Amino acid sequence: MSDTPSGSPKLTRRPEWTALEDHRKDALPQPDLRELFAADPGRAERYVVHVGDLRIDYSKHLITDETLALLQELATATDVSGLRDAMFRGEKINVTENRAVLHTALRAPRDAVIEVDGENVVPGVHAVLDKMAAFANRVRSGEWTGHTGKRIRNVVNIGIGGSDLGPAMAYEALRPFTARELTFRFVSNVDGADLHEATRDLDPAETLFIVASKTFTTIETITNATSARSWLLDGLGGDDKAVAKHFVALSTNAEKVADFGIDVDNMFEFWDWVGGRYSYDSAIGLSLMIAIGPDRFREMLDGFRIVDEHFRNAPAEANAPLIMGLLGIWYGNFHDAQSHAVLPYSHYLSKFTAYLQQLDMESNGKSVDRDGNPVEWQTGPVVWGTPGTNGQHAYYQLIHQGTKLIPADLIGFARPVAELGDELKAQHDLLMANLFAQGQALAFGKTAEEVRAEGVPEEQVPHRTFQGNHPTTTILATELTPSVLGQLVALYEHKVFVQGAVWNIDSFDQWGVELGKVLAKRVEPALTETFASAADAAGSVPGLDPSTAALVA
Ligand code: F6P
Repeated sequence: MSDTPSGSPKLTRRPEWTALEDHRKDALPQPDLRELFAADPGRAERYVVHVGDLRIDYSKHLITDETLALLQELATATDVSGLRDAMFRGEKINVTENRAVLHTALRAPRDAVIEVDGENVVPGVHAVLDKMAAFANRVRSGEWTGHTGKRIRNVVNIGIGGSDLGPAMAYEALRPFTARELTFRFVSNVDGADLHEATRDLDPAETLFIVASKTFTTIETITNATSARSWLLDGLGGDDKAVAKHFVALSTNAEKVADFGIDVDNMFEFWDWVGGRYSYDSAIGLSLMIAIGPDRFREMLDGFRIVDEHFRNAPAEANAPLIMGLLGIWYGNFHDAQSHAVLPYSHYLSKFTAYLQQLDMESNGKSVDRDGNPVEWQTGPVVWGTPGTNGQHAYYQLIHQGTKLIPADLIGFARPVAELGDELKAQHDLLMANLFAQGQALAFGKTAEEVRAEGVPEEQVPHRTFQGNHPTTTILATELTPSVLGQLVALYEHKVFVQGAVWNIDSFDQWGVELGKVLAKRVEPALTETFASAADAAGSVPGLDPSTAALVA
């Protein structure tokens, strides 16, 4: 039965997979959460896992002990723990790029030893963190001044994808911990409007640009950085020397940084074993470190590390990322769920789901396995969502009464942030009441009998009935601190890892973004020309299809 080069059977032919299919058909053909709770009230306590400050309740899922046992058998059969250990050891598990996958080394303690090609990478990680801390402190204290001697008051991060979403999300999440006297902006879009809006009210003499790009070749970032340099030089009288005081770079590519004109002394390094979407706890987090300070940044790294250690050492039945990953597989592969909603009940997490979209969809949006064979099973879900209460008045209707099964994560915090006044703090109970109410309504719905008992006219009963059985995971913590944010991000990083391991895909490459980049480069020069017809446009741009040729014309 071995039908892959590695000698193992294809996923869907594994007995552990077919056992789950049978279980879904025979034991849980129409799972009913009311019945599951009635038969087993203890599940409310049993299906909870604690990691660090997080309490993760997965009792409102369409599962029984048997489901969990079968999912764990699938994880064992697909050797999730073996791949996990290989990742932590620094093996080159990113097979298509022949790279180690070591974002966990970014938060390893100083005395850890993690080797890539025989070299311990941990001292380098801490050297960069120390350099970042020294720089962040200089900016925060006003010691680092701009070209004219004015102190820096504005920090503009220019990056895209992982070089934008992580720091932008974390800055938003940790706003109460930021230096409020400084202004932070994040520019990513190649639409010039993004840079324009980010800089139009800033004084160039007080503005620091952080150009964040792992490769330092990403067209959007280099284009924006070039325009930012012009804006700066125009504002400061054209002296090229100003660049050294107003531009720093975060990159793995010193040569390209120097080519751009940024002094490599002002470059904060990271390494090819850090994936872009796993990078905001590397040098890519410099803007965040300036915002929250080095101590808070280190607290965040400690939070990541708590979950790393948990993922590595906790037994399977109490391993939070493993359980969350397997639950996603249960819905995606055995219930035809196409998407997964992440619904934070926290204004500060307003960018969290957008961040997770890249983390999850760029990692697991793959259709060939690690050996290059087409997969015959569903892989990563569409990840979507916005802060919960806003979503309630927009798309929750579809989750409650639509025809699609959409598993969701509800994330909330027991306490509001300290700096809110008493009246705003009091609103927190209403916020959390909504989180709890939604979890309950989604799981247990409202039966036709219950609706009738309220005296609703018979013709309206079907419209006011809620079928329930919409699965949710509820993730709670006392408050949103830097450590808790690190814990949350690491939780999702490892969840994504688990799913990629079971699906036998390379979660660490992203070839799918390449084609569009190549075609854009080809089309761009033609957009300055005028064409009389689609045929003329097609003649000018090699390989242009007739539809796109007409659009270009
Ligand atoms: O979209 C592809 C991608 O390579 C992402 O993986 C990455 O986060 C982003 O582009 C930005 O890349 P860079 O940091 O090299 O500019």
